[in-house]
Amino acid sequence: MVGNISHQFKQPLNLINITLSNIKYCCREGGETDSGEILEGVKKIQECIRMVSETMDDFSNFLKPDASMTDFNILKEIRKAVGFLEDNIRIHSIRLDIDCPEDLIINGYCNEFCQCMINLLGNSCDCVSELPLKGRKVTVKAWREPGKNLVYIMVGNGGGPLSKEVLSRIFDPYFTTKSDKGGTGMGVYLTKQIIEQHFQGSICYKNNAETDDVECFIEIPMNQEAVR
Ligand SMILES: Nc1ncnc2c1ncn2[C@@H]1O[C@H](COP(=O)(O)OP(=O)(O)O)[C@@H](O)[C@H]1O
Ligand SMILES: [Mg+2]
Repeated sequence: MVGNISHQFKQPLNLINITLSNIKYCCREGGETDSGEILEGVKKIQECIRMVSETMDDFSNFLKPDASMTDFNILKEIRKAVGFLEDNIRIHSIRLDIDCPEDLIINGYCNEFCQCMINLLGNSCDCVSELPLKGRKVTVKAWREPGKNLVYIMVGNGGGPLSKEVLSRIFDPYFTTKSDKGGTGMGVYLTKQIIEQHFQGSICYKNNAETDDVECFIEIPMNQEAVR
């Protein structure tokens, strides 16, 4: 559990650190102070602190599964997750394609869903940022199929296929191929816990046979009350 919590906190704390360095740079002695950029940084830090604080609430919810769930908009949460990764996306010139209806609503723990998207999109960005520029593309799609009470989400990236070994161990806690870059191996594991235990959903990874892209598929029942 402690490992899980520290993982959830690392992302926003790292972002706070980077943003503070930027602010420090803006305020450097003798340099031009760009108040717009500083204000923007302060806003980002406030958002990160809110995220950390709400993540704490989410972990209390994780221990108390009957704590409140809300209806939330999937596209909005995907965009929020992208916001947390935007520096990474920009620095590595990653093209991001979001294909999701405006009105896709599900019920559940909204911040946990956002955290799952941060974990999956973060992994996709890590993977493509090693590729030549033209291969740096990440796709996220969400949709409903008529007549089914399910929402589908797919997060995909180039740089595949995943080897048999990675495919068989990807959901294991502490499994990482990025230990030299600070990988914790908790992201996918924790995402699976949240999707299965808190959204009564399922998650799997596939190699797209045509494109060799890595694709992570999530299925979530629209109406959590109905499955409880
Ligand atoms: N989208 C992806 N593309 C390629 N490899 C991935 C992807 N997602 C996960 N992996 C592999 O699974 C491992 C575990 O991921 P994760 O649990 O998020 O831990 P971490 O990112 O800290 O290594 C990664 O180290 C990587 O080898
Ligand atoms: Mg990860």
